Amino acid sequence: MNTVDVITRKRNGEILTREEIQYMVDGYTEGTIPDYQMAAFLMAVFFRGMNRAETVELTECMRVSGDLVDLSAIDGIKVDKHSTGGVGDKTTLIVGPIAAACGVPVAKMSGRGLGFTGGTVDKLESIPGFRTSMERCEFINQVNAHGIAVIGQTGHIAPADKKIYALRDVTATVENLSLITSSIMSKKLASGSDAILLDIKCGKGAFMKTEEEAEKLGRLMVDIGNDSGKKTMAVISDMEQPLGKAVGNSLEVSEAIDVLKGSGPADITELSLELAGMMICLSGVSGTDKLKTEEGIARGRQAAAEALEDGSALKSFRSFVAGQGGDPGITEDKSLLPQAALSIRVKAGQNGYISALDAMKIGLASQHAGAGRQRKEDGIDLSAGVLLDRKYGDAVSEGDVLCTVYGNDKKKLEAAAEEAAKAFVITGKRPAERKLVRQKII
Ligand code: URA
Repeated sequence: MNTVDVITRKRNGEILTREEIQYMVDGYTEGTIPDYQMAAFLMAVFFRGMNRAETVELTECMRVSGDLVDLSAIDGIKVDKHSTGGVGDKTTLIVGPIAAACGVPVAKMSGRGLGFTGGTVDKLESIPGFRTSMERCEFINQVNAHGIAVIGQTGHIAPADKKIYALRDVTATVENLSLITSSIMSKKLASGSDAILLDIKCGKGAFMKTEEEAEKLGRLMVDIGNDSGKKTMAVISDMEQPLGKAVGNSLEVSEAIDVLKGSGPADITELSLELAGMMICLSGVSGTDKLKTEEGIARGRQAAAEALEDGSALKSFRSFVAGQGGDPGITEDKSLLPQAALSIRVKAGQNGYISALDAMKIGLASQHAGAGRQRKEDGIDLSAGVLLDRKYGDAVSEGDVLCTVYGNDKKKLEAAAEEAAKAFVITGKRPAERKLVRQKII
């Protein structure tokens, strides 16, 4: 086979064969196809697209490019959860312990933040002592002992995706349905869980800007998951504005604790209950045989709400943190979390209503403050970020604080405050309400 021929065929909009897709994935992973040819191929896919059969093939080739995790030493139906990425999305820190408290084994591998989006592993590392890296045996023991373990993605799972994703990130080829689907599903299908819940974000702070695009992505991913023998469901949720009020690593851990104590912001509490309900439903532990139905989800949600109410979810979080070497005292004393030395308050320049609160700009502000990285090897400031005082739809008066930016570097903080100010649009009319959970694909 010839690499230029495959690139040419895709550039011309032709449908590739299984062998051609395999040739490209294997060649790039093994290093016989150089970056410049893979970049050209990805751009051809970006513009010409792939049909469903090609996307399934691409997913499969990437799935088998590395280790396939065996979680059979953990009893029960293991449910994985994956978000397509967003700003202020700390749901794993909340939903994992809720699901575990309800008897769902959670054995999860998560990623780090890149660009304006955050990553669960960075958030967890802001907990003093918390270890996000474990040998397989310890990982399994942690799930069996505490009901939940969350560690960083190892390089051995879907290494083809690791290499291709890094190239997509620097060649403007991330936002493509087939490439996102194959990237996420190859990792999820290799990670060993029995069922998968996907949280597909749509809006300014997401890869999918519209609900229609998000729905297409969700349907394709759910179909591929189900066809591979894993029960899969998806939620389409709004990412036009940040989720909750905290953006930045230790700030988000602190907010997750508030939600687990029943005093967190309404939006993140609502989404967390919905996601936990769906995970509980997928695992069948709430005593329902009505898996993948609205009724099963409602029963799961009820169990999730009870776990929040009776404190068992918070207990599960403490046990999870302690099991991975972290200090569970953070739930009672938040000052144990990294604290920023400096802050700047961003104030409203006029009276009115917040008619837009751009998630991407707040994510960028948090990154500028030091919470995010531009390149994978960059270090981050775990205490930096943005706390929103006001959100979409709120009334404000001139001089009211809109948000506070935290960090340890005055120059970075000033740039962050400038970016954060641009995220707020204030108009004279109260804007229409936005629905957070747009739809479920079950
Ligand atoms: N997250 C991934 O892992 N891959 C993508 O392509 C997009 C988001």
